[in-house]
Formats: sequence, structure tokens, C-alpha cells
Amino acid sequence: MKINAIKTLLAVLLLALASGPAAAAGGASNLEPSGINVNDTASLQRGAKMFVNYCLSCHEASYMRYKRLSEDLGLSEEMVMDNMIFADAKIGDLMTIAMDPEDSARWFGKTPPNLTLIARARGADWLYGFLRSFYQDESGRWNNLLLPNAAMPHVMWSLQGIQVMSHGEGDEAGQLELQTPGLMSPEEYDDTIRDLVAYLDYMSEPAKLKRKNVGVWVMLFLAVFAFMAYLLKAEFWRDVH
Ligand code: HEC
Repeated sequence: MKINAIKTLLAVLLLALASGPAAAAGGASNLEPSGINVNDTASLQRGAKMFVNYCLSCHEASYMRYKRLSEDLGLSEEMVMDNMIFADAKIGDLMTIAMDPEDSARWFGKTPPNLTLIARARGADWLYGFLRSFYQDESGRWNNLLLPNAAMPHVMWSLQGIQVMSHGEGDEAGQLELQTPGLMSPEEYDDTIRDLVAYLDYMSEPAKLKRKNVGVWVMLFLAVFAFMAYLLKAEFWRDVH
């Protein structure tokens, strides 16, 4: 009875572990890995700059404070004030926007969601795919492979250029093709999106930076402790043997 209960518990735990990341990525399994590194401070800084320049006009990130940004990303408060805060916000303020949710719903058909926790909801790989999958469909409207008929326009098209869907022979699904080049090469654009997604991932859990560091020390401590426990055991059992 007891063993059965333990078995069930183990099965549930294993299942949760196995399905966790897949569920976070929205169930899509053929996503390209984003390759982000949240411990790369320079990448996070570049991503934060992209975020405030290209996203913070429509999306708010209102669970995040500018001050935290300056502390975690090694930026001085002046640097954040001068380069990242465009409205009359103060350093201790939350990253809110001036756009009225009702207006944006009228303009776009939907209110742009708060992006503070989006990386937890969608997963980094999905975001990396999403921000690289905008294309112009036959009617000249922006569309997106991962979010069909998305109400969001491609706000970084001048950087990426314009992609269209090309259908090869017998290829019904089609694939994206860069029709008009942008200011960046495809590699540069991918790198830029990687920085941006790294920033979104950091923002969804700022404590991650610390948690991972602490984790390494805990593992080291456990290793040393296990070694000492082993020495003790050897010592205690010597006389018994
Ligand atoms: C012009 C306004 C506008 C700008 C600027 C903008 N977005 Fe959006 N975004 C939207 C709207 C509207 C939606 C809702 C789309 C839908 O659900 O169809 C959206 C949806 C999204 C979603 C999908 C959320 C989900 O899970 O359904 C993500 C992710 C996103 N935006 C990220 C970004 C990022 C990153 C930037 C900056 C590069 C950005 N957006 C800039 C308007 C905007």
C-alpha cells in the first residue's frame, strides 16, 4: 500500500518534470532553440535597450521596476534615466506605458498583453520563433507563423526586412523567404532577437540570476558534505568490520 503510494508520487513527479518545458513552450515541439544566456550581462543590456525602444510603447511590463533593471544589469541610474526612460517616469517607477488599454483595443483589435511574465507563459524558444516569424501575406497585412492572424504589426521590420511566404512545388505549408532585406543581415537580426528574448526571460524571473549562482554553491557544499559523511562512515565502521 505504502509502496504503491510512493510509486504514484514518483510517477507524478516524473511526469511533471517531463511535461514542464513542453507545456511552457505552448506545446509546439519543433521550435528552434533560442540559445539565450541570461548570465551574459552585455546581452541583457542590449535586449533591455531593444525592449524599451521597440516594445514598451504598446506593451507594459508593469511588474518590473527600472531601478531593479539598473541594479541587475550593472547600469548606472543615470544611464537608465537617460537611455531607457522616455516618459516622465522616475527610477523607482514600474515599467508602465501611457497608452490607454481601451484605445489600444480599438486600434489593434486587442490590448497588447503585459510582457513582464511572457517568457514564463510562452517559453524562450517560442518567443525567439515568434519574433522572427512575421511575414507579409498576399493582402499586404502582417501575419505571423506562430500566432496566425496576430494583431501585432511587425514593429522591427526595418531591421529584419520583409519576409513573404513562398510555396515551392507540392509545398502546401510554404516557408518564409526574405523578400526585401532590412538594415540587419539575417544573422545580426537573429542575434538581436536572442538578446531581446534573453531580456524577456530575465524579466520574467529576475531572481534567476541569483538562484542559479546560489545553486552552484549549494551543489558544491553538498558534494563536500557527502565526501565528509563518507569519511565518517568509513571511520565508524572500521571497528565493526
Ligand atoms: C504597435 C503596438 C505593438 C508594439 C510596438 C509591440 N507589440 Fe507585441 N503585441 C501587440 C498586440 C496588439 C498584440 C496582441 C496580438 C494578438 O493576440 O493577436 C501583441 C502580442 C505580442 C505577443 C504575444 C503574446 C501572446 O502570448 O499571445 C508577444 C510575445 C509580443 N507582442 C511581444 C512584443 C515584443 C517583444 C515587442 C517589441 C519588439 C512588441 N511586442 C511590440 C502590439 C504591439
